[in-house]
Amino acid sequence: MLWKGRFSKELNQDVNDFNSSLPFDKRLYYEDIIGSIAHVTMLGDCNIIDKEESNKIIDELNNILKDIDSDKLEIKDAEDIHSFIEQELTKRLGTLGKKLHTARSRNDQVALDLRLYVKKEINNIKKYLKELLLVLNKLCLEHENTIMSGYTHLQKAQPISLAIHLDAYVQMFKRDITRLDDCYNRMNESPLGAGALAGTTHPISQEETSSLLGFNKPMINTMDAVSDRDYCLELASAINIIMMHLSRFSEEIVLWCSNEFKYIELDDAFATGSSIMPQKKNPDIAELVRGKTGRVYGNSIALLTMLKALPLAYNKDMQEDKEAIFDSIDTVKICLKTFIPMLSSMKVLKDNMKEAAHKGFINATDVADYLAKKGVPFREAYQIVGKLVAYCLEQDLDFSTLPLNKYQEVSSFFEDDIYQEISLENCFNKRNLNKNWLDNNNK
Ligand code: ARG
Repeated sequence: MLWKGRFSKELNQDVNDFNSSLPFDKRLYYEDIIGSIAHVTMLGDCNIIDKEESNKIIDELNNILKDIDSDKLEIKDAEDIHSFIEQELTKRLGTLGKKLHTARSRNDQVALDLRLYVKKEINNIKKYLKELLLVLNKLCLEHENTIMSGYTHLQKAQPISLAIHLDAYVQMFKRDITRLDDCYNRMNESPLGAGALAGTTHPISQEETSSLLGFNKPMINTMDAVSDRDYCLELASAINIIMMHLSRFSEEIVLWCSNEFKYIELDDAFATGSSIMPQKKNPDIAELVRGKTGRVYGNSIALLTMLKALPLAYNKDMQEDKEAIFDSIDTVKICLKTFIPMLSSMKVLKDNMKEAAHKGFINATDVADYLAKKGVPFREAYQIVGKLVAYCLEQDLDFSTLPLNKYQEVSSFFEDDIYQEISLENCFNKRNLNKNWLDNNNK
């Protein structure tokens, strides 16, 4: 134990296990080592330790990093990743290793490691989102004229194209990227130098470590630096929204590959079968993404609740931040990683979409608009068309098979151009839908 000097007994074994964060914070080893390298570089530059000593420590930290990366060194037998690296350094360098922790506390160290990790993962999540946007853009271009019904209340509403439908998701995922950017920009400040909570009496340079580690600037307040986890909450919230978007999309994928819709077919490599029903092809990826949205929301609530009413500055409660944010990061990444190729490999059953669009009177608004354009007040036109829908339903007709004389029985404004006017293609093409996704999405 780093802190055993004051204690006369070994830590109780259960307490030791309970207290240890190594099983989950070992993934911070890279951040911990590069943080230490920046710290010890600064200690040398500020003459807090000898330059030569600082260089030796840096070399050995690099060796440790290499050994962990190549599986030569196993991370184990320590309270946390910070203790592990320091113990290993001391094993290798003797007393010199013990100089590493000069002018630093595990409190600013863990705050630093987690910030570096979150920054890295924000960029990784953004990469996946950009990949998803590429796939969606390609589908939009291919399906500019793939007419389908748009829905409200999950009832057929008005004609749209598959491209318009998918482009709605493009807009959502683009906003998600801006949310990640906001989070990144706000958190891009270094906590190193805050010490345990009250800074240090050594003549350190927070500017140097901040810039060595790629932060914009050091944090202003030392107590805030060690106790702030807003960036975890912000990232968790941004991930919640990404997952919410993915879950809406997933729900549509599930519906669209059902026998009732048959709008798409998933590639065999991205669907699963049933152990008992030989005919089944299940959209498990979409269902899992939808399901995992719940655990991600849970992580967010866990973080908020852990921080609620927590007095300043560091408290051990904060060790609980890691598993929650790690799980949200891991989950959104694996969801995106599988969702993207599922989407790019799926088959769009255009003809089925079109055939379904011919049922359900999705041009009813256009019939009413036809009358409104001829001067019939829209509310009256709406009533007239309602009657026509009721009549068609009774007679098993639709607007394209309803005879002209039946139209004219309800309004003398109907002429034989009505059939052309309300064809699905016409209804779709005449709408002021945004069809500029190529221009818009490539920005
Ligand atoms: N393992 C701890 C954590 O994850 C590191 C900080 C420990 N600091 C302390 N004062 N006990 O939060």
